[in-house]
Amino acid sequence: MNALKLSDFPIGASLAARASQVLAGGVSSDARRGMPLPVYMSHGSGSHLTDVDGHDYVDFVLGQGPLVLGHSAPAIVDAVSTQVALGQTYAGQHALEVDAAELVAELVPCAELVRFNTVGSEAALGAWRIARGYTGRSKVLKFEGHYHGWLDPALFSLHPALELAGPADTPHVVPGTGGQQMSGGFDLVIAPWNDLGALTSLLVKHHDDIAAIVLEPLLCNTGCISPAPGFLEAVRALCDEYGIVLIFDEVITGFRLAPGGAQEYFGVTPDLAVFGKAIAGGIPVAAIAGSAKVMGVVAGGTVSHAGTFNSNPVGMAATVATLTHLRDHRDEVYSHMQSLGGMLMQGIRERAQAAGVDVLVDGPGQVFQTYFTSEPAVRNYRDFAQTDLPLGRRFHGELLSRGVNIVPRGLWFLSAAHSVADVEHALDAVEQAFAAL
Ligand SMILES: Cc1ncc(COP(=O)(O)O)c(C=O)c1O
Repeated sequence: MNALKLSDFPIGASLAARASQVLAGGVSSDARRGMPLPVYMSHGSGSHLTDVDGHDYVDFVLGQGPLVLGHSAPAIVDAVSTQVALGQTYAGQHALEVDAAELVAELVPCAELVRFNTVGSEAALGAWRIARGYTGRSKVLKFEGHYHGWLDPALFSLHPALELAGPADTPHVVPGTGGQQMSGGFDLVIAPWNDLGALTSLLVKHHDDIAAIVLEPLLCNTGCISPAPGFLEAVRALCDEYGIVLIFDEVITGFRLAPGGAQEYFGVTPDLAVFGKAIAGGIPVAAIAGSAKVMGVVAGGTVSHAGTFNSNPVGMAATVATLTHLRDHRDEVYSHMQSLGGMLMQGIRERAQAAGVDVLVDGPGQVFQTYFTSEPAVRNYRDFAQTDLPLGRRFHGELLSRGVNIVPRGLWFLSAAHSVADVEHALDAVEQAFAAL
């Protein structure tokens, strides 16, 4: 396998030149900045993407997670094509949103009542508002390194510079961008992930003011970090003790770890959960789901929730198609993703060892992370920040140039569409990439 080089991308390079003139920074999302090659996609099918210069990639990005059934899964294409001919959006009630909500309620343990949105960032903040309305309290406790969307109130203490981040057990509230409204930070308490002692101390001090504890139950925006054994159960118990609403941000884990998301996978039920990404298999749909008691403030109209595109019929058709497939094929889909992911993880470990490269591979398989570190475990953001992030970016570039597309920060997503041949191709590329580093 020869590594692709810049001269192999004549059409992509010309698109990049045009993009730099009309798209700010040449991209539509900061997550796409700084790519090592001008890869412009032409089309996707199953587990593969093809770029405009004709190169093929085994895709482990999957649209940053949504494509749990792969690109252009027939069930989704059929449902969306049929629906779009019947109208794109009604701004009125229709049957598909009832079907979709019933499927969410059937699959997700916490879901008694559901509201749909379009993207994860708005649903995440919607859940915070619901928790505030329900409790009458103002603060939200979030964990350092956890991501709940790009909007102002949530974009604090994601990946703060260590010199600003404060003590490990009482992290400072650190803004994430220029231009951010700082007042949101006054309503946040930041805790370190996987540290029950630190969390308990923070709650002893702040519990009267805290409306919600929000977390990524499997942390996927700072490596891929599982909750320590018993941690989610302990957070659940603390929320019960103090009357705090527990929110799982399942934008990545929802319908990916299991049909019922991380709450099914880990066996801990939150009061509210937020979904996006995989819920509609790649069409923009998000949702807030929760107990009838907490969602009652929306049902009863004391807390407002709205959106022009909420439950649009095209998104709902994709949601019904995706969730029906996941429900009816749950055994094949999840064991397939887990076993191929496990095979890939083990293969990467073996190749790293043979090449003498210090790599830690961790995650449940449906999603996992490659870290460049000699440490045996990464437990929180501070550990993650000590890994060799520049080497990880180089690894991403080496893989991309060999037809393997992973999330630049080292995250790999599997889908029902991946095959053993994809895994073998990826492992050949990994072996060559380690040699090239
Ligand atoms: C855990 C989590 N929450 C919220 C979001 C925001 O979702 P969106 O990008 O759809 O606004 C993301 C996006 O990656 C996410 O990973």
